[in-house]
Amino acid sequence: MAFRLSHLSLALSLVALALAGVAIYRNTYEAMSKGFQTLSPELDLLESAASILTLNNNAEQNSDSKLTQPLSPLACIFSAVQGVVNSAIDRERRMGASLIRLHFHDCFVDGCDGGVLLDDIPGSFQGEKTSPPNNNSARGFEVIEQAKQRVKDTCPNTPVSCADILAIAARDSVVKLGGQGYNVALGRRDARAANFTGALTQLPAPFDNLNRAN
Ligand SMILES: *[C@@H]1O[C@H](CO)[C@@H](O)[C@H](O)[C@H]1NC(C)=O
Ligand SMILES: *[C@@H]1O[C@H](CO)[C@@H](O)[C@H](O)[C@H]1NC(C)=O
Repeated sequence: MAFRLSHLSLALSLVALALAGVAIYRNTYEAMSKGFQTLSPELDLLESAASILTLNNNAEQNSDSKLTQPLSPLACIFSAVQGVVNSAIDRERRMGASLIRLHFHDCFVDGCDGGVLLDDIPGSFQGEKTSPPNNNSARGFEVIEQAKQRVKDTCPNTPVSCADILAIAARDSVVKLGGQGYNVALGRRDARAANFTGALTQLPAPFDNLNRAN
């Protein structure tokens, strides 16, 4: 039995290594040809390979133990954000819509750079947060703050931008409210400034017509 288990383990390890090899190759290829934006399926593949290896090791060491291996760094980030977003929406359902809107209001102004999250500094810096399309209507900042803290606490040494956290939170909101899930690739860089006038001119207004929306 032990003999056969170790053969099974070996076979699983080889499959996992092959998957990891393919993932790394495709990852590198994608990164070279397309930049940093479309890595998500490959990262998923890499994660599956990693988790086969982890499960396999686990089975070898202690076949009775439950599967409570530490999450991979990426899975840790996704799980931390999702936990915070799900509880926020459980507390108040509208928060899901607010987080989706916050992500949209971030992305339409100079790209998905987290600029909308930056606080004004009275007298020296006025950003997007208090620009009329956002002032007193953009919400969910505290949920993003909490998600950031949760990632810091539970996924040590795993840097992730606030813009990425906001993008994940918007997707998790869609899913939590019953919508279709989609992959969120990571790698957005946070802005060091925000654009007060950009929020005025780059966001579509509620009274815009379809031509303007195009
Ligand atoms: C934002 O709203 C506050 C009231 O909550 C108001 O005092 C402030 O003038 C507004 N800022 C801008 C830029 O409209
Ligand atoms: C801010 O927004 C304005 C108006 O859309 C745009 O012309 C400008 O380039 C933006 N500034 C930065 C630093 O992106």
